[in-house]
Amino acid sequence: MAQGKVMDLKSEKDVWDLQNIKRAQLVDVKEVPLLDTTAEKWEEVWRFKARPDDLLICTYPKAGTTWVQEIVSMIQHGGDTEKCDQLPITERIPFLELFINDGCPTSLEVADAMPSPRTLKSHLPVQLLPPSFWEQKSKIIYVARNAKDNATSYFHFHRMNKGMPEPGTWDQFLENFIEGKVAWGSWFDHVIGWWKAKNHYPILYLFYEDIKEDPAKEIQKIAQFLNLDLPEVLLNQVMQHTAFENMKQNPKTNFTNVPSFIMDQSVSAFMRKGTVGDWKNQFTVAQSEWLDDACAQLLKGINLTFRTQL
Ligand code: A3P
Repeated sequence: MAQGKVMDLKSEKDVWDLQNIKRAQLVDVKEVPLLDTTAEKWEEVWRFKARPDDLLICTYPKAGTTWVQEIVSMIQHGGDTEKCDQLPITERIPFLELFINDGCPTSLEVADAMPSPRTLKSHLPVQLLPPSFWEQKSKIIYVARNAKDNATSYFHFHRMNKGMPEPGTWDQFLENFIEGKVAWGSWFDHVIGWWKAKNHYPILYLFYEDIKEDPAKEIQKIAQFLNLDLPEVLLNQVMQHTAFENMKQNPKTNFTNVPSFIMDQSVSAFMRKGTVGDWKNQFTVAQSEWLDDACAQLLKGINLTFRTQL
């Protein structure tokens, strides 16, 4: 959850401050727990000025944001990997509500200064999206991932990223996840809120599991949504460049640009497993049933289903 700007260390003091980085606390904004640094600057986030030709990639954290960012980036650059590799993904696509390094331009300022058309990233639930996105009818790609893999990935991300709150034990984390007491709030509210919004706004709602199962089909959907042509040669280039093993090796997508005292990839890699069903290595039978029950209850009556294995 860090930006490329984290690397702009100006002095030894910057390094010292970052090495003593404090884990975030959660602060509610309109009843949704957000990182304290986001909550402090909430008015600025809310006033963000979207443009009609913006593309926003929005997800619950750990649903496959980086993957779809890189797919979009490749499509936009006509499959030119050199262009994509000029900057880390964190710098190509500003993460709107993330505030990391005092003294550097915020993501909001970076986005304001970007020429159109812009591609932006957010993890905000639908009710917290700055209203200008709705007013401008900017295009939005939303990616959802099944709750079990999403929770598993989020837990390991908390372990390795010192900028996130303390995860506690897996059991405690899972309880917080189910109760929505984690950063960016309830997974259930998030996936449902965006699912309903797609009936009224230009939103392409994708599933991690579908991209994993048939990347060609889902990548074509994205290109179509962007009104861009994707001939087969180009499609194959996008697929190859964004395959998990390639993104894991790629320093522009694997977050190794973020210092290890923030993201300690020896604890857990940012590009960790990249699969559907890894939750089976994490959940006990009781925990699996606990989350199944929560899903049955909270997704009841909503025409929204998730696959926990392929
Ligand atoms: P795991 O922790 O399950 O491996 P985000 O980008 O939203 O933070 O999501 C990160 C998750 O997406 C991680 O899941 C990561 O491995 C996975 N991911 C990233 N790139 C991927 C790719 N090219 N193919 C499949 N999964 C990918």
